[in-house]
Amino acid sequence: MMSEYTWFEGIAFSDKVVQKEILEDIRNKFVVKEEDLIMLTYPKSGRNAMALIVCLIQTKGDPKWIQSVPIWDRSPWLETDYGYTLIFNKEGPRLFSSHLPIQLFSKSLFSSKAKMIYVIRNPRDVLVSAYFFWGKTNFVKTPESLETYFEWFLKGNVLFGSWFEHVRGWLSMRECDNFLVLYYEDMKKDTKGTIKKICDFLGKKLGPDELEMVLKYSSFQAMKENNMSNFSLAKNDFSTNDINLMRKGTTGDWKNHFTVAQAEVFDKVFQEKMAGFPPGMFPWE
Ligand code: A3P
Repeated sequence: MMSEYTWFEGIAFSDKVVQKEILEDIRNKFVVKEEDLIMLTYPKSGRNAMALIVCLIQTKGDPKWIQSVPIWDRSPWLETDYGYTLIFNKEGPRLFSSHLPIQLFSKSLFSSKAKMIYVIRNPRDVLVSAYFFWGKTNFVKTPESLETYFEWFLKGNVLFGSWFEHVRGWLSMRECDNFLVLYYEDMKKDTKGTIKKICDFLGKKLGPDELEMVLKYSSFQAMKENNMSNFSLAKNDFSTNDINLMRKGTTGDWKNHFTVAQAEVFDKVFQEKMAGFPPGMFPWE
């Protein structure tokens, strides 16, 4: 059955996957460790693809880990019951993911040297991706049309709140040495370049053959065929049978779904809300 949102500090969540007590704990009790690596994204921005690349870099392209352990164990999702417990109890360096906006994240992050990778995607494509993805799940209220979701998205009345505020908030960290900003669009255009950037950030070196293996196993097709990454294992838990994480994996799909009027409204809102960033900050603009 479809759920309504639950609200925490003005941000929408699904109480089927995120508990308020855990959100309180993350902010007040959870301690980030210096050796943690945290994947931060607004939902539907390419978190799973980037987390897969990071896993493959860690194994130097060896696919054993990514083919035998589900994504939510390799890079647990902090704000879920399951992920929080796993991360909380793990000893040694941790790799984990979060969709939380900056103001809800653990305060300990800001005095820590933990590495963070923040992935940004064109919000128009995020909107379309989210509309199709959430519609196939049973843990969140789903709109009756893209038109309705378009309105919710611009108002920030969607899971994890406003894209604009999420991105503005996290980008305030962009001058920090331990904060890497990546774009989904750059990953699509130059995957090798993105892998190298991540390697430099993590202080890892890959040989040419290892780099090729990372490329091979992180491709859209390889990921789509990998049951440990494509969410097919999540079907019974919180989705209808045709949940599809691996929908299209392209850039600019919004052009197939927005009307001309919607595109104009979106442009206007984007310019207003993202005013002040230097030209060239967002690769799709
Ligand atoms: P679409 O719905 O536009 O196809 P997230 O992992 O943050 O939930 O993001 C999901 C989006 O990333 C989906 O976009 C999905 O197809 C795309 N994606 C997943 N794996 C990918 C990959 N290996 N390469 C490119 N895009 C990928």
